[in-house]
Amino acid sequence: MSEIRNRQWRVARYPASNEPISSALFEWVENSVPEPSDNQFVVKTLYLAPGPALRGYLDPNHKQFLGNVPVGEVMRGRGIGVILSSKNPDYAVGEYFVGSLGWQDYSVQHPRGKEFVFSTKKISAPLRPLSLELGILGQSGATAYFGVLEAGRIKAGDNVLVSAAAGGVGSAAGQIARIKGAAKVVGLASTDKKCQWLVDTLGFDAAINYKTADLSHQLAEEFPKGIDLFFDSVGGDILNTGLAHISLNARVALCGFIATDYDPHANIGPINYRNLLYQRATMQGFIVFDYWERFAEAEQALRQWHSTGELVFCEDLSDGLEKMPQAVEDLFAGNNSGVKICRVNDEPA
Ligand SMILES: NC(=O)c1ccc[n+]([C@@H]2O[C@H](COP(=O)([O-])OP(=O)(O)OC[C@H]3O[C@@H](n4cnc5c(N)ncnc54)[C@H](OP(=O)(O)O)[C@@H]3O)[C@@H](O)[C@H]2O)c1
Repeated sequence: MSEIRNRQWRVARYPASNEPISSALFEWVENSVPEPSDNQFVVKTLYLAPGPALRGYLDPNHKQFLGNVPVGEVMRGRGIGVILSSKNPDYAVGEYFVGSLGWQDYSVQHPRGKEFVFSTKKISAPLRPLSLELGILGQSGATAYFGVLEAGRIKAGDNVLVSAAAGGVGSAAGQIARIKGAAKVVGLASTDKKCQWLVDTLGFDAAINYKTADLSHQLAEEFPKGIDLFFDSVGGDILNTGLAHISLNARVALCGFIATDYDPHANIGPINYRNLLYQRATMQGFIVFDYWERFAEAEQALRQWHSTGELVFCEDLSDGLEKMPQAVEDLFAGNNSGVKICRVNDEPA
């Protein structure tokens, strides 16, 4: 085992406000592969799923969720891997494992109580490709599932707007809304190609290129009776414009605010919040981990819809651990269609 190297990206420094994620923030290090101690096991990373939350991990003032990653440590990252060696009887060599593997080839894992339970799992009957377990059948799918059903309280006949619709969570949210009986699902994306893909491949009823369209005008056209459920991952101007078009008793599910992730101080106030009052609407933030006790329910539903073809698998694959900084940069540049995935090592046959 000692001849194999463990390649790692370690945090070298935090970005300045508005500085894009790039390899300049990280240091590439090669170490020997770790050995497990009692109760531990070593996981070989197969895929990592870089998400916008990584931006917060590089913010020295970030206190939410798991907090920031100290300079000098391996960059945090969620992934799926295969157990390579184990001194824990519950985790056998060859089993697949989803969890916080970090931007590296090999990580030492061990059960760590509640945090471990809700963010990790062994995969007993994996579907191929294994990256599905990070995307539509994993955290992206579960975020969309609980956001649409719980924060969004979807009802049959709803007219639904999804922002960042061509992304990992948004592409699942729009499909789940349709499965749950939405009358109309409209997505927002930054290119005509993505908009076409939302309609042709994912079955959205319409999609709006928010970069080129007069968004307010288009929303009025698409939603003559207003938006009943707005699933928003963007914040900023898009949230504000959407709020102007909500219907009576509308629900706004706040999933994220990627438009202002880079610079929280650039946050504009959603002045159209007044419409929440006029329309007796509710706006609710949610965090997927709040529902960890119900993950099995989401997993079962997502697998079922996937097996019937109602939930289309969509991922945007980069190849190689060395591409991880670029993969995150791509997310913020909107270069992905579907869940952003980075293949680190080949899946076992
Ligand atoms: N609440 C939770 O528990 C939870 C869990 C997971 C993720 N999230 C949030 O969900 C959102 C989506 O995450 P994801 O992993 O699925 O990422 P993603 O949607 O696959 O990728 C981000 C997408 O956001 C869009 N975007 C980027 N910068 C933007 C900007 N300035 N204005 C408007 N759109 C912009 C881009 O699409 P276009 O170029 O097409 O606009 C990009 O493809 C993020 O806000 C994330 O923080 C929340």
